Amino acid sequence: MCGIVGYIGHREAYPIIVEGLKRLEYRGYDSAGIALFDGKDLKVSKTKGKVVDLEELSEKEISKHGKLGIGHTRWATHGVPNDINSHPHISNSGDLVIIHNGIIENYASLKKALTLREYTFKSDTDTEVLVNLIEDVKKQEKVKLGKAVQIALNQVIGAYAITVFDKNKPEEVVVARLGSPLAVGIGEDEFFIASDASPFIEYTKDAIYLEDEEMAIIRRHKGIKVRKIKDDSIVAPYIQKLQLNLEEIEKGGFDHFMLKEIHEQPKAISDTYRGRLSRDKAIIKMAGVEDNMKKFLNANRIIIVACGTSWHAGLVAEYIFEDLARIPVEVEYASEFRYRNPVIREDDVLIAISQSGETADTLAAIKLAKSKGAFVFGVCNVVGSSIARETDAGAYTHAGPEIGVASTKAFTTQITVLTLMALRLARAKGTINSSDFHRHLLELEMIPKKVEEALKSDAHIRIIADIYKDAPNCLYLGRGYNFPVALEGALKLKEISYIHAEGYPAAEMKHGPIALIDENMPIVVIATKKGHYEKVVSNIQEIKSRKGKIIGIVTEGDTQVRELADHIIEVPETLESLSPLLNTIPLQLLSYHIAVMLGKNVDQPRNLAKSVTVE
Ligand code: G6P
Repeated sequence: MCGIVGYIGHREAYPIIVEGLKRLEYRGYDSAGIALFDGKDLKVSKTKGKVVDLEELSEKEISKHGKLGIGHTRWATHGVPNDINSHPHISNSGDLVIIHNGIIENYASLKKALTLREYTFKSDTDTEVLVNLIEDVKKQEKVKLGKAVQIALNQVIGAYAITVFDKNKPEEVVVARLGSPLAVGIGEDEFFIASDASPFIEYTKDAIYLEDEEMAIIRRHKGIKVRKIKDDSIVAPYIQKLQLNLEEIEKGGFDHFMLKEIHEQPKAISDTYRGRLSRDKAIIKMAGVEDNMKKFLNANRIIIVACGTSWHAGLVAEYIFEDLARIPVEVEYASEFRYRNPVIREDDVLIAISQSGETADTLAAIKLAKSKGAFVFGVCNVVGSSIARETDAGAYTHAGPEIGVASTKAFTTQITVLTLMALRLARAKGTINSSDFHRHLLELEMIPKKVEEALKSDAHIRIIADIYKDAPNCLYLGRGYNFPVALEGALKLKEISYIHAEGYPAAEMKHGPIALIDENMPIVVIATKKGHYEKVVSNIQEIKSRKGKIIGIVTEGDTQVRELADHIIEVPETLESLSPLLNTIPLQLLSYHIAVMLGKNVDQPRNLAKSVTVE
């Protein structure tokens, strides 16, 4: 969490940093700050609130000149969001300035030791401790900034991506990472630093992604030197060519990123299967699966680990893998799995699902599984992310950048990748016959068109949203493949509208949630044909008898649910195994419209962050 941006070069740093912070606000947005070196001195402006609040403040507070600067957008860990706890933080001498993403776990003992040496602290943050530790090392050991950072970081326990400079040496910036991402963009006589490449994409396509336990000393005229923090060994930096485009990270005429990303799903899904699925040849090819086919075929079971929406995609995958490929699957919250001493065997395959590829708990679960000898496969969206690099093999979702904090296209593209995998393995294992396999390929290719159809219900969904926007609670029910979709629908509503919502398997309703149903309770029921339609219709009857308000997600042309429900939203017909890809769409739109009508900040819901790099 937290976004960091830095610049050293020949341009004015302020606009680059502020624009960069806006692009990184998905990482945290409870406070923001900037430090500029104006040629003579350090100018710092920071505030609780968003980057626009920082802009307003810095307009009054500082001259916005300087060719060296760092900026931060915060998701609070240590210390409440307020002006003082906002980054950047300055050392006691006033010379060093730092921004930090991560948590210094042993900050209390470090702070105590520094206090004994008469250091004082203004904020409650671990970051202010770190900058003073660096200063203390620099003074005690009489070393340069780079060395001081290295020695200090060797005393630190925790996770970090930091950028620090000394106002007395404005030709140099030092960066380091452990557990939080950090990219350095390389231009002509200029360098850009950021949590991801989006802040500098219009300036350079050349970037170095620091690995864990690496630091870099960036000198404006002398270039960049990368070293290992532990043993000081020199690392030859690998310069990557970025594929990202500016248009991909802009709203493109939509009011919100979330809406844009909902509407991008037809393209995102076809981008996901393009080059992997050939209906003519009746094959699915995925390099990461082909190269490790033996591991998959010999697998005792598949364990899926993920968090949030990605965990819901994992639950859908459980149905698909077991149903089509007949491989036993367990789906685990990464945060629980990593700490509960799980049984992991060498013939287990662990699939980690993560949009960002940076989620701390998922990363830790991967490391645990690897240490026990399991084969680890990643399903990530962000190319080159930590999880993509940490796993033994993987498949990208190719959804393009997802900026809205509430995940939409990442979910449907994750399901698409996992479906392709299940089909490929089913074919290899002989658990699917060729006509079923072919039917799946055909239907999968039709999904983007059908998602487009589903999106046409937008105006109708807006009317339903208006009716239920003031409901304090909402239930989501689904069975089989669509039980995880119910969970995801409820999560979307909670995340962005702050309405309490619960997802349940429709049959479980009788074991508790039914007690909540009265004439004020909206209940979204996924009741598409195929699967357990008749059973779900019975569940709808039960709700109706208790006067609940029913919003049915139904297959085009449905008549039975239409008679019972207060509202229906139609989606095109497809195979049961692919139905989550369509049934999710109206649920995304419903929560979106409700949140907009309630005046909530759809793209940046309170307390949340897109990339959770702390546990
Ligand atoms: C956060 C985001 C969610 C996301 C989850 C897992 O909570 O707000 O949208 O589903 O993290 O993130 P990942 O990047 O690992 O998929």
